[in-house]
Amino acid sequence: VVDRPDLSSFIFPAIVDRGEVVVAIGTAGASPVLARRLRERIESLVPARIGELAALMSRYRCRVAAIKSTISPRLFWQRVIDGPIADLALSGRSREAEGALARAIETAGRGRRESETGTVFLVGAGPGDPDLLTLRALQVLQDADIVFYDELVAAGVLERARRDAERVFVGKRRGAPGIGQGEINRKLVQAAHAGRRVVRLKGGDPFVFGRGGEELEALRAAGVPVVVVPGVTAALGCAAEAGLPLTYRSEASRVTFVTAQQAKGAAPIDWSALADRTTTVVIYMGLAEAETVRDGLIAAGRAPSTPAAVLARGTRPDAQSAVGRLDELPALAAAVGEGPALLVVGNVVARSTPWLAEAARAAADVQDAA
Ligand SMILES: C[S@@+](CC[C@H](N)C(=O)[O-])C[C@H]1O[C@@H](n2cnc3c(N)ncnc32)[C@H](O)[C@@H]1O
Repeated sequence: VVDRPDLSSFIFPAIVDRGEVVVAIGTAGASPVLARRLRERIESLVPARIGELAALMSRYRCRVAAIKSTISPRLFWQRVIDGPIADLALSGRSREAEGALARAIETAGRGRRESETGTVFLVGAGPGDPDLLTLRALQVLQDADIVFYDELVAAGVLERARRDAERVFVGKRRGAPGIGQGEINRKLVQAAHAGRRVVRLKGGDPFVFGRGGEELEALRAAGVPVVVVPGVTAALGCAAEAGLPLTYRSEASRVTFVTAQQAKGAAPIDWSALADRTTTVVIYMGLAEAETVRDGLIAAGRAPSTPAAVLARGTRPDAQSAVGRLDELPALAAAVGEGPALLVVGNVVARSTPWLAEAARAAADVQDAA
């Protein structure tokens, strides 16, 4: 009888079940609800693949126990759990993890130690609201020795990192240039080679206009183990907040993310590819380019009356939006103040919460005037 200890001869704990790894939470029958709440908390802290890591370790237990060397099995396993082998297993790269473990056993058998290179996690910090971090992002943040972050990472997100992790700003402050991508890459490699668990926090998702690809390649080239942890990109966070469906049956069958800031030497944006009226266009880094965006899209054939929105500082406490027509885009951009901001163009904007609120306000004004 779950909540009647006096009628029971044994206790049902609340269970976190990850295969080989099981956590049981009991309250001696005092409060199964409390045990369930606690289980929910623990569920979010224990990586989903911890059981797979345990199974891998179990398969190699005897081989590790048989290693004839100065390193004890306990120390060997400790290094596995705290190092890149566990990082690979927990991120679903089980074959690589197994290969690395076999190599580590072989090296230890020859009385040597695997290199101490730490793992770099390229982590998406989301658009601002810390509650939008993924569980894996939270787990690696809480394990980090050092966190490199840029100007788009909200303070609330950084606070979720391990208290004594070193925090290094590598972004651009207003008016001052950043340290440059080459230098960031160098710092990441250096920290990993020093054996540290490195988190590289990037606003939104690392692979959406975030230069995550370049960092990944630099780390690979330096032989540093890398794990990419996706994040909620600004378009998804801002659209959710604004109640703006980016696609909609028969009205918006395509969504395109485009940057208004092209790299030096890149071909200019081909607006004609975005002319189709069923395409929702989300423009990153476009706050200062609203005129160019408006002119490009209208010249490509989008109607000047197409609904448009500017969503600034989305999911942050000071989020602000402005809605109107495509031909009003520069005025909308001027109305929201500072970035970061997205421009959104497409019929679905007319379904968003700010648009509906604006329409209700206009209707009330008409009624007042009458
Ligand atoms: C260098 S890009 C980085 C994009 C990021 N990797 C992502 O996935 O969201 C910076 C641009 O993202 C957009 N952005 C980032 N965070 C935002 C937010 N909270 N609200 C609106 N736009 C945001 C802005 O257009 C900003 O200029």
